[in-house]
Amino acid sequence: MKNFSTNENGPQKVLIPQNRLQERVSELGHEISQAFEGKDIVLVAMLKGSFIFAADLLRAMKIPCTIDFMGISSYAGQTRSGIVRITKDLDESVAGRNVLLVEDIIDTGLTASYLLTTLKQRRPAGVDICTLLDKSARRIIDLPIAFRGFEIPDVFVVGYGMDYQQHYRNLPHIAILPPSRSSEDQLESGDG
Ligand code: IMP
Ligand code: MG
Repeated sequence: MKNFSTNENGPQKVLIPQNRLQERVSELGHEISQAFEGKDIVLVAMLKGSFIFAADLLRAMKIPCTIDFMGISSYAGQTRSGIVRITKDLDESVAGRNVLLVEDIIDTGLTASYLLTTLKQRRPAGVDICTLLDKSARRIIDLPIAFRGFEIPDVFVVGYGMDYQQHYRNLPHIAILPPSRSSEDQLESGDG
């Protein structure tokens, strides 16, 4: 059995502490509320990685809004291709509504780019991206990011919803995973 402990051998290096996350998410809630004042907005949270961020962001929103969820998974062996499969689709139509795509982290940008294209085909009033973390050093596709929590360096992070092999989502802060775990291995889990 692998060791997923959060002490001695687990991810211990805190990148963003819990109080900084809370402060920034609250600021984002204000920024987004101002930008969408008087508009009909639906937060589309990407499963699974963004569920904790989305829950906090929703509570930081000052205007009427709704939330829906979408799940995607990379095709086996095509993690880096940007070709994904929808494992859970939205419950409600987004036609005519302002969609805010809520992501945990944007890395190469392939996933978000695919989602942007898919959502735009559904005739929303608009689609904007909100990501908690931006690892822009690794970007392959240029993306318009309207709302960004933190820019982070090229490190593999876990916690606050984000995982390594489905573990560590429960950490209340963002931690850096020790580099002993290879980056390809880290990216194979595939379901955000
Ligand atoms: P992209 O398509 O390369 O932008 O990858 C985006 C997805 O990969 C994110 O939504 C995450 O699910 C996952 N991912 C990328 N970097 C990390 C990381 O450092 N920790 C955890 N998941 C990550
Ligand atoms: Mg994700």
